[in-house]
Amino acid sequence: MQDHRTDRKPAHVTETELQVQRQAMAEVRALEDRPRTFCIVTYGCQMNAHDSETLAGMFREMGMSEAPDRESADFVLFNTCCVRDNAERKALGNVTWLKEVRKRNPALRIGVCGCMIQEPGMAERILKQYSFVDLAFGTANLYRMPELFLRMLQTGSRVVEVADENTIAEDLPVQRLRRDAAYITIMYGCNNFCSYCIVPYVRGRERSREMDDILREAEGLMRDGVKEIMLLGQNVNSYGLGLEGGASFPALLRRLDAMGVERLRFMTSHPKDLSDDLIDAMAGSKHILPQFHLPVQSGSDEVLRAMNRRYTRAEYLGRVRALRGAIPDIGLTTDIIVGHPGETEAQFLDTLSLVEEVGYDSAFTFIYSPRVGTRAAAMPGQIAPEVATERIQRLIAVQERRQRERLRRFIGMEESVLAEGLSRRSDAAVSGKGGHGISITFPGSAEDVGEIVRVRVTGVKNNTLTGERV
Ligand code: SAH
Ligand code: SF4
Ligand code: F3S
Repeated sequence: MQDHRTDRKPAHVTETELQVQRQAMAEVRALEDRPRTFCIVTYGCQMNAHDSETLAGMFREMGMSEAPDRESADFVLFNTCCVRDNAERKALGNVTWLKEVRKRNPALRIGVCGCMIQEPGMAERILKQYSFVDLAFGTANLYRMPELFLRMLQTGSRVVEVADENTIAEDLPVQRLRRDAAYITIMYGCNNFCSYCIVPYVRGRERSREMDDILREAEGLMRDGVKEIMLLGQNVNSYGLGLEGGASFPALLRRLDAMGVERLRFMTSHPKDLSDDLIDAMAGSKHILPQFHLPVQSGSDEVLRAMNRRYTRAEYLGRVRALRGAIPDIGLTTDIIVGHPGETEAQFLDTLSLVEEVGYDSAFTFIYSPRVGTRAAAMPGQIAPEVATERIQRLIAVQERRQRERLRRFIGMEESVLAEGLSRRSDAAVSGKGGHGISITFPGSAEDVGEIVRVRVTGVKNNTLTGERV
């Protein structure tokens, strides 16, 4: 499965192939008897969320509109995640539940796409066990959805197609979820093969988009009035692999910063590729927000080695110091896994002490979940679920306390907040993220949503910040 020729220029989907898709979209639109509404149910990370925006854009081109909910849609598409077992079970459970809805609405058609479909043997499994799924395709051939959808409608039979190609498709239509903020995928796939992770298997090898294509997309978004752009990739730091002309992540950031995108963010970064040049680019910028998501996974050198993370605890802490030295008060967040095969109590305590030492502003904590085909799944020393559960509870307790302590440093500071929506607790309050990436709730109304508001932080509540308008 592993292709080592990763320094080649990434292949693009040909113009002829894209033309076939545009033609298919037009043909669907011209069909008298076709689904009128769609609903996309998305699981997993931002990469999937953005893929769903592309799928929605293609449905719109096919003359379909978004249904208010999945019960009333003519076509329901599940965009799945398989990074942990519970993500996969949730997706499959919901697909099966829809089978019941179809008993009441026989015209309903069901599709499944996303990372789960790229798992070995999944196409056969869908064909055999999920006979009510009408359409299935993976992440590698997402751009072919219109053609497959048309075939499903024309033949009236099931269409299941999984591909293994590592290509880039440019210029697909996108229907954004938000007006004020947008995603741009800058690179696809991952070459890191962390022991536990299925992403490199289901998302293919790393491939970076041409810098000009990204800049063109950003220009378009700015013309549309987008205030915040989030750059996406499994490992944005290694952007540029295989590209010519000095394309690198820091170079890309500098170009976008010079264009004047109001707020720039990115995720995810791998600690081993976090260069001084990137820190310089951030520190010297006007628009890159002072926040960094830097997954550590474990605080133990032995576990990091078993995970194939290719950095040590000391190296990681060195990167944190460098970030904080150059960008004071930077918002720092992380991902942590407990219960990797072989993890001893002493090694887990190293993770606890690292969390204590760093003082993250927020952390996503996970119990290790074995994924078929990954190296860790075959390792000796699998940890009992009760042990892992007990460890994650201790970890969460330390992290929450540290988070409360650390967030207090923002009290009295002024932040520019991009208001995302009304607060869940009150109609007279809105919440959104400040520049440091932390949610802030402050007095406001629906009129503020989508606007950038100056707020002074006044307190810490439920592990987020509260503030007042300046
Ligand atoms: N490319 C990103 C995100 C990968 S998935 C990165 O490298 O950080 C997001 C997170 O899910 C990972 O950071 C990891 O903490 C977690 N994760 C991945 N595989 C997992 C598994 N098998 N079990 C538990 N957590 C996992
Ligand atoms: Fe998975 Fe590691 Fe790649 Fe992140 S860097 S997607 S954790 S293999
Ligand atoms: Fe899940 Fe695929 Fe993202 S497995 S976390 S949706 S890359």
